[in-house]
Amino acid sequence: MKMSVLLANVLTLMTVGVFQTLLAVCPPGWLAWQDACYILLPDKMGGWQAKEVCDRPGSSPVVPDSQEEQDFIWREMKPRMQEFGANTTSDLELWIGCYGVGAGMLGCYGVDWEPKYINWASNEPGNNFHVCVGMAGNFNGQWEDGDCSELKYAVCEMRASRVSFCMPTDGDGHCPPHCLLNHGIKNLTTGVTGCAWACWEEPRCHSFNFWQKKEENAGICQLNSAPRLQAAAEDFKYVEDCYFYEM
Ligand SMILES: *[C@@H]1O[C@H](CO)[C@@H](O)[C@H](O)[C@H]1NC(C)=O
Ligand SMILES: *[C@@H]1O[C@H](CO)[C@@H](O)[C@H](O)[C@H]1NC(C)=O
Repeated sequence: MKMSVLLANVLTLMTVGVFQTLLAVCPPGWLAWQDACYILLPDKMGGWQAKEVCDRPGSSPVVPDSQEEQDFIWREMKPRMQEFGANTTSDLELWIGCYGVGAGMLGCYGVDWEPKYINWASNEPGNNFHVCVGMAGNFNGQWEDGDCSELKYAVCEMRASRVSFCMPTDGDGHCPPHCLLNHGIKNLTTGVTGCAWACWEEPRCHSFNFWQKKEENAGICQLNSAPRLQAAAEDFKYVEDCYFYEM
């Protein structure tokens, strides 16, 4: 848990004056834990592919930094892997964002030097340290090195500091349909996560509207040039099936 990130969020929220009503909301399908969001991808893939898929602006392959985070990931992802078809203990395997970097050393995403938290299973890594690293059902979620071409599940992690906030939220953290009108830059067809990525990648984008289409994963993603409080109050209003997110 990065207190500085949390504090920065709180300060930002207080500055914009919506502190009481605002909650960090992970995009649909992502699981919130402390200051981050997590998602298990439904298909098994190689270690490099997992890295490539998760390595997007704001997101990376998951790196457990503490026993609490390790326990959270294994507890939550195990039943999800089973839902996706893992039906034996040895099928329960997921890549994490740590890699053998030579001389028996481990490097992890977002960690400058050797990671402080490491959870190798006993006798792992073996003498022949493979480059990719995963959590293994055979070791109750403890880590083993593996050939990067092996197919395992993958978990991506997104820091809440980069997660968009849907606004406003009611007391339960639900977002009533509201959108910001008259500030659109462009429209895309994406899921809400893709929309957030598109907004991060577009320097002029300060918020986005997401029109949810019933019975479909994708919706219309409209990137906006203004945050809500820089727009006229009458531009922010109830629009059926439309949800507003601020970066
Ligand atoms: C386990 O799942 C695989 C596919 O993921 C399937 O081919 C196999 O039949 C399943 N085995 C059992 C015992 O359900
Ligand atoms: C973007 O989509 C919204 C919702 O369907 C629509 O109102 C708006 O006119 C579209 N803007 C452009 C530039 O197509």
